Amino acid sequence: MNLPVKLCLAPMAGVTDRAYRELAMEYGATMCTTEMISIKGLYYNDKKTATLLENGQGEHPLAIQLFGHEPEIFRETVKKALMFGGDFIDINCGCPAKKIISNSDGSALMKTPKLIGKIVKSVVQSCNVPVGVKMRLGWDEDSINAMQCAIEAEQNGASYITVHGRTTRQNYTGQCNYDEIAKVVKSVGIPVVANGDIKTPHDAKRVIEETGCAGIMVGRATLGNLHLIKEISQFLENGIEIPKQDDIEKLLLAKRHIGLIVKYKGEQNGIKEARKHALWYVKGMPKNVKYKDMLVKCKTYNEMCEIFDELKQNM
Ligand SMILES: Cc1cc2nc3c(=O)[nH]c(=O)nc-3n(C[C@H](O)[C@H](O)[C@H](O)COP(=O)(O)O)c2cc1C
Repeated sequence: MNLPVKLCLAPMAGVTDRAYRELAMEYGATMCTTEMISIKGLYYNDKKTATLLENGQGEHPLAIQLFGHEPEIFRETVKKALMFGGDFIDINCGCPAKKIISNSDGSALMKTPKLIGKIVKSVVQSCNVPVGVKMRLGWDEDSINAMQCAIEAEQNGASYITVHGRTTRQNYTGQCNYDEIAKVVKSVGIPVVANGDIKTPHDAKRVIEETGCAGIMVGRATLGNLHLIKEISQFLENGIEIPKQDDIEKLLLAKRHIGLIVKYKGEQNGIKEARKHALWYVKGMPKNVKYKDMLVKCKTYNEMCEIFDELKQNM
């Protein structure tokens, strides 16, 4: 099966919601993944968990990313997750956050590769969509085992693997190790997506060449800069280097993006969530200090747009 993994938007909890994914797909991402969703929350019908699953037509192909550590809970609940509409299931074996790993979830799973295999098997057996696993390199420098975890996942029916080239201990610091990702690519027959620190179209191309991966995944470099997806897409597809957005175009995109957040989450919640995006969009713009203060206090969409307009006039 040909999976659309060439240019994936990374799942980022609290960031890559419906609005974000919709724009990423419009700009040329070949696939998106939801923010990580607690399988247990879903099992117990938690309402907030369910809202994370909501998605629309413009976001597909879409993987639903689940975190948890109990194969039985996955087995019983995965169909419920797919009822919201999703094309793949992705299992989170990479989150290094304390509250996640202290509960044996996320990258803690890499300590027991067999358990990853069991979870994959229970998910594969209880749904009929391709199942992926997103992992790191291992717990720390002395226990790199992404290859072993990837093989375990493949043997139990996984259809693709994503590897962030850092260990759990590294969190988001230090260098990404693409050589280790290349070893994973060589050790399995299913597509591997390389992830970590891809910030430019040239980075994307280099990582594909260095690792032999089937696709790449981009996360933080898209914050306030979703247009990067289009730049990478054009470069990989056609070898064309399209210009970056100028500040005026960025502000227009910010308005559109925040408009979508408000559309999906309502104005009260939406604007609260939009504030961080607004700050990412205006980052590096001339004379932005005064406006940053105003943006974090903003309460309505119109207010936010007026601040963007004022910023534009004062550039
Ligand atoms: C704010 C934030 C939230 C994240 N949430 C998730 C998540 O829900 N699931 C997941 O698998 N990875 C998550 N990640 C990790 C990213 O998907 C990605 O692996 C990591 O940021 C490295 O890629 P990058 O250098 O392109 O950002 C998150 C990262 C950030 C910065």
